[in-house]
Amino acid sequence: MALSPLFHSNLPSLQFVLLVSIFIFSGSLYASDDPHLSLDYYASICPTVFDIIRKEMECEVLSDPRNAALVVRLHFHDCFVQGCDGSVLLDDTITLQGEKKASPNINSLKGFRIIDKIKNKVESECPGIVSCADILTIAARDAVILVGGPYWDVPVGRKDSKTASFELASANIPTADEGLVSIISKFLYQGLSVTDTAALSGAHTIGMARCANFRARISGDFETTSDKGPMSETYLSNLKSICPAAGGGDNNVSAMDNITPNLFDNSYYQILLRGEGLLNSDQELYSSILGIQTKQLVVKYAHDPISFFQQFSDSMVKLGNITNPDSFTNGEVRKNCRFVNT
Ligand code: HEM
Repeated sequence: MALSPLFHSNLPSLQFVLLVSIFIFSGSLYASDDPHLSLDYYASICPTVFDIIRKEMECEVLSDPRNAALVVRLHFHDCFVQGCDGSVLLDDTITLQGEKKASPNINSLKGFRIIDKIKNKVESECPGIVSCADILTIAARDAVILVGGPYWDVPVGRKDSKTASFELASANIPTADEGLVSIISKFLYQGLSVTDTAALSGAHTIGMARCANFRARISGDFETTSDKGPMSETYLSNLKSICPAAGGGDNNVSAMDNITPNLFDNSYYQILLRGEGLLNSDQELYSSILGIQTKQLVVKYAHDPISFFQQFSDSMVKLGNITNPDSFTNGEVRKNCRFVNT
């Protein structure tokens, strides 16, 4: 398993102090029960918004189930940079450097066209009222339901940012070959717990990853973590044909849940129990010697789909409530999600 420099530290107590202090201080970074958000924010000013978004998402997911995954990931990458403020949706301009070209996003983040389409529909019904950040948050919830996942109520009332941060997109978003401790600290920094980290990672029950993000895993310790039986050997050789160790094919894709790739269920955790997680970051939740709590959670969610669904819903509300305090005072409702209003 690829280990981060932190993993090699022989000062576990220092790591613990670091994590605890990040946890304590992160509480004051973002308010999770944000007073600006409420369930009925649009009830009188745009009562049909939830129906419009649901209808559009139904068409998108029906035409290609992968679209559900694209939108869920887009929401996650929005919220980890300046809070859920639609910053990820902004295009580069002469005066603004967006987040789309930051390393976790470039050649990887998709689904912008889906949000544009929904925004157009919403604008024609309720002009200037519904933020892009809210559209993305609601669309992510609908995406999950449409591929068989749980329902949760979405608090709304977010404003769109007038800024984006290339630097924070590069720094805050966890990557496939990052160690577990480092990934957990990125979640704690956002006010999300170890439990949230394990449950939200379950979003990898849908969607695809590119070879560039799983080459190290399949030419690394995949064989060590898996049971080396004929099934896992066949799976590994398939993955190697998609993603040659020698290089090339960086953009070839494989499903992260090879059992039910288009269904939101708990099979992602069952795959981790078998040691066949596609990304290093996935498998570490179960196999890292430092992941005592995450291992217990993986076992629990693998055996109890209801508790996974319950925790995933709660954690998605927490993710969606990561707010950008600046956007509430200086933010706006963009007319076009790709550009700040002129
Ligand atoms: C725990 C740390 C996480 C890491 C290291 C991580 C990393 C990745 C990577 C490397 C990919 C493949 C991207 C590509 O190859 O182009 C991916 C895909 C995806 N991630 Fe994550 N992710 C994490 C957490 C999350 C969370 C919290 C969510 C949502 C709640 C999420 C939702 C998704 C989805 C749905 C996809 C599939 C997208 C598609 O089909 O294009 N991930 N993630």
